[in-house]
Amino acid sequence: MKILVTGGAGFIGSNYIQYMLEKYPNVTIVNLDLLTYAGNVANLAIVENDARYFFVKGDICDAKLVNDLVKDVDTIVHFAAESHVDRSIMDSSSFVHTNVVGTLTLLEAAKNNGNKRFHHVSTDEVFGSLGKNDPAFNESTPYDPRSPYSASKAGSDHLVRAYFHTHGLPITISNCSNNYGPYQFPEKLIPLFVSNLIDGKKVPIYGAGDNIRDWLHVRDHCSAIDRVVHEGKIGETYCVGGNAERTNMQITQIILTAMNMNDEMIEFVDDRKGHDKRYAIDNTKIKAELGWEPSVTFEEGITQTIHWYKENQKWWRDIKSGEYQEYYKKQYSV
Ligand code: NAD
Ligand code: DAU
Repeated sequence: MKILVTGGAGFIGSNYIQYMLEKYPNVTIVNLDLLTYAGNVANLAIVENDARYFFVKGDICDAKLVNDLVKDVDTIVHFAAESHVDRSIMDSSSFVHTNVVGTLTLLEAAKNNGNKRFHHVSTDEVFGSLGKNDPAFNESTPYDPRSPYSASKAGSDHLVRAYFHTHGLPITISNCSNNYGPYQFPEKLIPLFVSNLIDGKKVPIYGAGDNIRDWLHVRDHCSAIDRVVHEGKIGETYCVGGNAERTNMQITQIILTAMNMNDEMIEFVDDRKGHDKRYAIDNTKIKAELGWEPSVTFEEGITQTIHWYKENQKWWRDIKSGEYQEYYKKQYSV
């Protein structure tokens, strides 16, 4: 098994690489990552000397590089993306470039090198926003993206499916809910709030804090991707969720309580533009067809996660100070 992982220096990609190297003695992983602000080779310090792991710094939009790398692998697992909704509201162009053009570049390389197996990691945000009593998203929910981020991911999903129908490319897609766990960039809700509180800083809740997300531990996401890559039906989409819907206020209260703090640490700030109200995933298909369901309860997962950020302060302090971008240069002597 030789896998090209894109975006493997980010949050989910780095957890996936660690998961795969632990699980499969015979796997080889090539990690193609541009090391944008979100990429951090320190996420992979634990595997960097593993003979089965190779890192390539480069852009998924670089057709020649991508073609050369794809030639040499059996499977592509595609995580690389611009992933933060707030950034997509401020400047959308890099989202279209990486998420749409980058995905197209990978699809072309997969097609031109003997139709390589291609798994695309996508998001539940492509389905839009649910009302409080609406049924959860499933594989038949119509696409209704509402942020530049989710629109660019929707575009990439459509391209992936088009390469299946047009060229017979053996693809699968997973649309996943909000992940949390170790190595998440501290601009996202949970790591931002935990790291702020460790430093005695307030936590900024957008609007009234009543937006709902369905939280999935990142290791469960990795096991779901592994299951889909090995046993998923070609051409199919699988929705992946955590069975853990919580409001942002509930998440904040859980974190505050775990850290022996109170509501005085909350600061209500202006709402996100076009803020999606609720996401929720119906796991029926992946459970019925592939026997996958989340194994980590939200209570266990959030306790472990808060503990991880307390124990790994250098990791996120280096990000907040900018030092993390020097790590690659030191490690690779550039
Ligand atoms: P992330 O922002 O932490 O990491 C993205 C990685 O992609 C970084 O290492 C970055 O350097 C790399 N990258 C960006 N542009 C690149 C380019 N042009 N070429 C090569 N590498 C590039 O993202 P994440 O949270 O780990 O998300 C990974 C994937 O999972 C994304 O496709 C995202 O849409 C999807 N997803 C994320 C979540 C979540 O909750 N985080 C949920 C569902 C789906
Ligand atoms: O649903 C899957 C998606 O989850 C992924 O596709 C995205 O890549 C990922 O970033 C995430 O998107 P969200 O926008 O849901 O995640 P974020 O952590 O940015 O925000 C979670 C909720 O918390 C959301 O309702 C906005 C709110 N929030 C966020 C931040 C950063 C706040 O109230 N305050 C904040 O400071």
